[in-house]
Amino acid sequence: RARFAFHGRHQAGIVTPAQDRLHFAAFDVTTSSRDDLVGLLRTWTAAAEEMTRGAEVGGGSPQPYDAPPTDTGEALGLPPSGLTLTFGFGPTLFTKDGRDRFGIADAQPASLRELPHFPADALRPERSGGDLCVQACADDPQVAVHAIRNLSRLAFGTAALRWSQLGFGRTSSTTRSQATPRNLFGFKDGTANIKAEDTAETDRFVWVRPEDDPAADWLAGGSYLVARRINMRIEQWDSTSLAEQEAVVGRDRTEGAPLSGGTERSDPDFSRQGSSGPLIPVDAHVRLAHPAQNRGVQLLRRGYNFTDGNDDLGRLDAGLFFIAFVRDPVTGYVPMQNRLSKSDAMMEYLQHTGSALFAVPPGVRPGHYLGQTLF
Ligand code: HEM
Repeated sequence: RARFAFHGRHQAGIVTPAQDRLHFAAFDVTTSSRDDLVGLLRTWTAAAEEMTRGAEVGGGSPQPYDAPPTDTGEALGLPPSGLTLTFGFGPTLFTKDGRDRFGIADAQPASLRELPHFPADALRPERSGGDLCVQACADDPQVAVHAIRNLSRLAFGTAALRWSQLGFGRTSSTTRSQATPRNLFGFKDGTANIKAEDTAETDRFVWVRPEDDPAADWLAGGSYLVARRINMRIEQWDSTSLAEQEAVVGRDRTEGAPLSGGTERSDPDFSRQGSSGPLIPVDAHVRLAHPAQNRGVQLLRRGYNFTDGNDDLGRLDAGLFFIAFVRDPVTGYVPMQNRLSKSDAMMEYLQHTGSALFAVPPGVRPGHYLGQTLF
């Protein structure tokens, strides 16, 4: 699995097996020229196709000695490392401060609006939003960083990096062949996730259909990407008893089995009672996030752990960079986040510090450019 195809019906990096490393970047478009924006998307398409194949940006053609190299060079000699590049369009690409900079406001999907404020949100504007996003995932951090660096460089004069996030240690599995990894709370994460093999679920909960929003049918075959930078109060968690930790999650730490019994893959039984109430507490994370509490809704989670150093009290600035792909954020994400932010026992240990929503256009056909169905 060293290499994933760039072209296809859907963009790679959604149902392709989650890699170990992430570099996520959000950009602001700095021009109001539609031609320049399309030019950037064409340039990014060519570079993304080259980099996912493990080739140099610029085709490795002879380089003039008196100009900067077309590829920055730090991935030379490294294998493709399963690199996928997944691109998205934020609400502000369509309308910013009431302006339709690129003549695309009419095609803005009804569900592509800034996410509402959720209880306890502590969002930092400099870690939120963006006109464009690129999710670079790879099994080698240098390959992921190289990709974002080169795309930023190619965007110079057209789009500028607004914020970016490095991630390590995937916190989900997206195929049945992958083992369930663990998040920084030490619990298995990704057990009840939608997997690539669940095509009925991906059709129902991940991929946008043309009839979902006829005025924005350019998004058919695409999806929406929700990004949330969620800080975890690591030191507080580490001084909490195992019993309390398991009650917060609703699963046991060793196996990842629901507290109602069984093994990791057993269905949770929310009605099962112990001596002091339900075995899976009413405010446990998995109870509140379960489809049974969410009108049957499921999401495809594809997040990563992060650690960005520490604060001056010696506490880690660490957490989970949550990424989910959904067919419609209005029905498929917002109600669940509201429920979790309001009632999830885990919220005592979490703080949401960044947020963004992007529409992820469908996959690119050979000879076409990224997002072409919009222009
Ligand atoms: C399940 C941790 C944030 C949605 C789980 C599980 C863990 C976990 C340990 C159980 C294993 C599994 O089924 O994957 C965390 C942590 C978070 C976080 C540490 C933040 C730092 C979120 C957010 C959402 C979410 C923001 C959505 C808004 C879900 C869903 C499940 C789940 C849908 C599966 C529930 C089921 O069907 O049983 N999470 N989670 N999680 N989480 Fe989270």
